[in-house]
Amino acid sequence: MESAMVIYQEDCERLTIENVEGLFGCWGRGPAAADVLRIFKGSDHVVLAVDGASGQVIGYITAITDGVSAAYIPHLEVRPSWQGQGIGSELVHRMLERLRHLYMIDLMCDEDLQAFYERLGFRPWTGMLIRNYDRQACD
Ligand SMILES: CC(C)(COP(=O)(O)OP(=O)(O)OC[C@H]1O[C@@H](n2cnc3c(N)ncnc32)[C@H](O)[C@@H]1OP(=O)(O)O)[C@@H](O)C(=O)NCCC(=O)NCCS
Repeated sequence: MESAMVIYQEDCERLTIENVEGLFGCWGRGPAAADVLRIFKGSDHVVLAVDGASGQVIGYITAITDGVSAAYIPHLEVRPSWQGQGIGSELVHRMLERLRHLYMIDLMCDEDLQAFYERLGFRPWTGMLIRNYDRQACD
């Protein structure tokens, strides 16, 4: 487990490719670092957890919203060596604070993650989705 200072920030403008290399690792075939930057910059809201020592992004959450009624949270990840320290929960808390004025705040998750999200105020529901797996890596 690593113990350096974690900085939470919403600004992603100064991030470099090196800062985000290796993110989306849990996807197998995920977006390249340049596309990770595009995902962050194209989102309406981003909260990053950054390693104060190296500047590396160690966790992130993104949201897309109309700003009036609804928001969707497509991405949440904490690098494996930083998991289990409350960083994921803190990222969700901070994003919910940004979105609290909205009616709908939705996300999709695997069943084994429902307890994690329930502790943060979400409740299970049913959903429908399309996944174009040939677009998964954004290339
Ligand atoms: C889910 C995730 C963001 C949590 O980040 P984190 O920093 O470890 O979260 P926290 O330390 O705040 O909370 C950890 C809790 O979540 C639980 N948890 C994390 N991943 C889990 C999983 N796949 N299944 C069940 N529980 C899980 C842990 O058991 C832990 O519970 P505990 O506090 O009772 O021990 C992180 O595990 C991750 O990046 N996973 C891979 C990507 C992913 O699944 N993202 C969510 C997409 S919907």
